[in-house]
Amino acid sequence: MTLSRDISREEVDKPPLRVSMPLFSEPDIVEITARIGAVLRSGWLTSGSVVAEYERQFANIVGTAYAVALNSCTAALHCIMYLLGIGPGSEVVVPANTFASTANAVLYVGARPVFADCDSTTFNVTAETIEERIGPKTRAVLVVHIGGNPCDMDEIIPLCKKKNLFLIEDCAHALGSRYHNRQCGTFGAAGAFSFYPTKLITSGEGGMIATDLQRVGSDAKTFRNVGREYFGRTPITMLGYNYRMTDIHACVGINQLRRLDEFVARRRELAKIYDTQLRTIDWLKPQHIDNASTSSYYAYICRVSDGAPLSRDELSEVLKRESIETTVMFRPVYSHPYYRSQLSGVICPNAEMIGKESIVLPLHVGMRDEDVVRVVEVLRHVAPKR
Ligand SMILES: Cc1ncc(COP(=O)(O)O)c(C=O)c1O
Repeated sequence: MTLSRDISREEVDKPPLRVSMPLFSEPDIVEITARIGAVLRSGWLTSGSVVAEYERQFANIVGTAYAVALNSCTAALHCIMYLLGIGPGSEVVVPANTFASTANAVLYVGARPVFADCDSTTFNVTAETIEERIGPKTRAVLVVHIGGNPCDMDEIIPLCKKKNLFLIEDCAHALGSRYHNRQCGTFGAAGAFSFYPTKLITSGEGGMIATDLQRVGSDAKTFRNVGREYFGRTPITMLGYNYRMTDIHACVGINQLRRLDEFVARRRELAKIYDTQLRTIDWLKPQHIDNASTSSYYAYICRVSDGAPLSRDELSEVLKRESIETTVMFRPVYSHPYYRSQLSGVICPNAEMIGKESIVLPLHVGMRDEDVVRVVEVLRHVAPKR
């Protein structure tokens, strides 16, 4: 094989450092395989006893009365919107700086997402940016704890109470995140969690609703099951969807959930090394985490500030050449072509700036301390382009 002249053998062999990765140990894989075998032999493959067990354990860990498993966080958000009675004619304040699913859940029920800007240091919406977007049609506020960094709930909860609005938490990044030592997802009407492979824990695909509202806890099971409370010839009582989780996925989720505390602790250790090491690089600003907050560090997000020798995209290229993968968390939802065509005139300056200047550095539980040190070493030697 011919190698291009400027790439050394050593560089070619360097395994890429992935920006995120799920972790399964060999004993985990053995255990999961055995559990899946039992499910397959039982003949009951979906919404069965393993899903129910996963829900029980999840509710217990998060601290809500009910947990309902679905096949994604997107489905969980849709379900919450529907069961809270949000529909045509209503508005829901959502962050501009988030994934499409947050806004889509509002659109699915025929309501209108109204985009709030984020803070330039925490990358989260604030009570102030939310309040600016509240109008007579607003029914709910849907917050996202970006990268696992809890939003300022001390300000947001009283605002929602004062304005009589539902508070919903998109906790796709925030399993294991705490605010005043309380798990995110427990502050409002309901929280929605994701088990996509990059997330804090994974079941391949999957999602969970956590809630203390009895009606949401029970009706969510009907909504996810095409509007039927049970299987078989039971009546359809609502316009439901097939959002069921399989027991095969739940086998994976149960195994991962057991390791959640360990995973979050390791993520926090790695983030601390980044924090310390990056102090010497004044042009790279890590996401600000407030004193009241304990981030799960779903992601380690930094802003490449004005004084940087390279732009965010150039920096990303430099790291890629060193086999270090990076990503961009989000650009404002409204800036994607689909939303631009129907939600014109929205501008959230901080979300735009974050979309252009933020970079996600590798952080996952399988990383070694030396991997973080290597990333920072590369960043330290970044030189301006001539
Ligand atoms: C903030 C946020 N909300 C919702 C989702 C959707 O999660 P899922 O893929 O489980 O539907 C994601 C996915 O990355 C996300 O980042």
